[in-house]
Amino acid sequence: MSQFEWDDSLNVGVDRMNEQHQQIIHLINVVADDVENNENPLGSFDKLANYVVRHFQEEEKYMESHNYSSLSSHKIIHKQLLARVGQFRDSMVAGDLNTEDLFAFLRMWLKSHIKGIDQRYGIECANFQP
Ligand SMILES: [Fe+2]
Ligand SMILES: [Fe+2]
Repeated sequence: MSQFEWDDSLNVGVDRMNEQHQQIIHLINVVADDVENNENPLGSFDKLANYVVRHFQEEEKYMESHNYSSLSSHKIIHKQLLARVGQFRDSMVAGDLNTEDLFAFLRMWLKSHIKGIDQRYGIECANFQP
């Protein structure tokens, strides 16, 4: 069952980034399925984490090449998200994952990061003149 879905409210106005966000949502759903089916989510979580590392790198490159004004604070937020991802991984390995916390985090990521923070670069970079 897909718990998380991409819809136009998550549109950042950059096709490549929208596609990557859709892939992130797909990978999040695989993790959610594993958790729901009481299967160890470590493998699917690592796939998600690896993809997200690459996505953040590409997003940062995109913002850099469009002279985005809030690049440095956006990079800090990416770092914080990855630190949180690492903490969840640690608790999975230790066997004390709080699944509600994990889902709250993933929901926050979609709602406040993609919707709020990523959409801002979309708006600003759309008007970028090289
Ligand atoms: Fe993003
Ligand atoms: Fe981002």
